[in-house]
Amino acid sequence: MNDKTSKGAALITGASSGIGAVYADRLAKRGYDLILAARDEVRLNALTARLRAETGVTVDVIKADLTVRDDVRRLEARLRDDASVALLINNAGAALFEPFAVAAADGLDDLIQLNVTAVTRLANAAAAGFTQRGRGKIVNIGSIVGLMPQFKSTVYGATKAYVLYLSESLNDELAGSGVTVQAVLPGATRTEIWDRSGRGIENVPEEILMHVDELVDAALAGLDQGELVTIPSLPDAADWDAVAAARANLQPNLSRPHPAARYGVRVSEPA
Ligand SMILES: NC(=O)c1ccc[n+]([C@@H]2O[C@H](COP(=O)([O-])OP(=O)(O)OC[C@H]3O[C@@H](n4cnc5c(N)ncnc54)[C@H](OP(=O)(O)O)[C@@H]3O)[C@@H](O)[C@H]2O)c1
Repeated sequence: MNDKTSKGAALITGASSGIGAVYADRLAKRGYDLILAARDEVRLNALTARLRAETGVTVDVIKADLTVRDDVRRLEARLRDDASVALLINNAGAALFEPFAVAAADGLDDLIQLNVTAVTRLANAAAAGFTQRGRGKIVNIGSIVGLMPQFKSTVYGATKAYVLYLSESLNDELAGSGVTVQAVLPGATRTEIWDRSGRGIENVPEEILMHVDELVDAALAGLDQGELVTIPSLPDAADWDAVAAARANLQPNLSRPHPAARYGVRVSEPA
């Protein structure tokens, strides 16, 4: 199954479990060398041993807590300076479902460090290295929750809305550079994130829960198809295109010299 060509290396954050671990499996089988990052070195080493044996690819492990700036910096350096790295899977993340008013500020801050700050810094380093080398792909794992402000997951959802905006805007900025961006928006997927967040996977209805293998296989198919936004569950991709078009249609009226008439504001003399 290993069609090892010179694909280069993929750096995957959050590779110790769930979505990241399946990306590691699939990318190794596609012939990518791997750089796997997470905090749990034991699990990363076990995955590494299996993938080396099954595929023969080179696998490096970097133990990193992405809420710690020095750890993030080590990964940034690898993305910028290692010319073999051609793919970033910006996947590590966590969820919090506590009501905003009772959530501890430090916990929210840690979530933002992981889901926003680290994702941004790593995408930044990848963009720098990849554009210099004239090739590369940046895959950012968002969430459908970023499209659902009524999901009662205020800060988690906001971090994922950020990931979508970052991806769309960055893709636009990088047009013509040889570097592409994909935002993957999983729906509920059977991984440890539910138990880790305190919600408990048993509280997620089976009829909306996707197997993690299917989720990653669809995300990679979307990458192969050159999709900017991949929503694996969505039956008709035109539904997303319609949302993007509706937003684009607002554009001519989003910045004008005077407020809309419904506000009844008197027009000021020019300054
Ligand atoms: N599962 C879903 O329903 C779902 C839906 C939408 C989006 N997502 C997104 O998918 C991504 C992957 O989540 P998952 O579902 O695969 O959950 P998961 O199984 O809990 O995996 C999360 C990964 O992130 C790593 N991680 C967590 N905190 C970290 C930290 N401080 N520093 C470094 N690594 C850290 C974990 O490794 P260590 O503990 O070893 O550090 C683990 O490898 C996340 O961005 C999540 O928001 C998931």
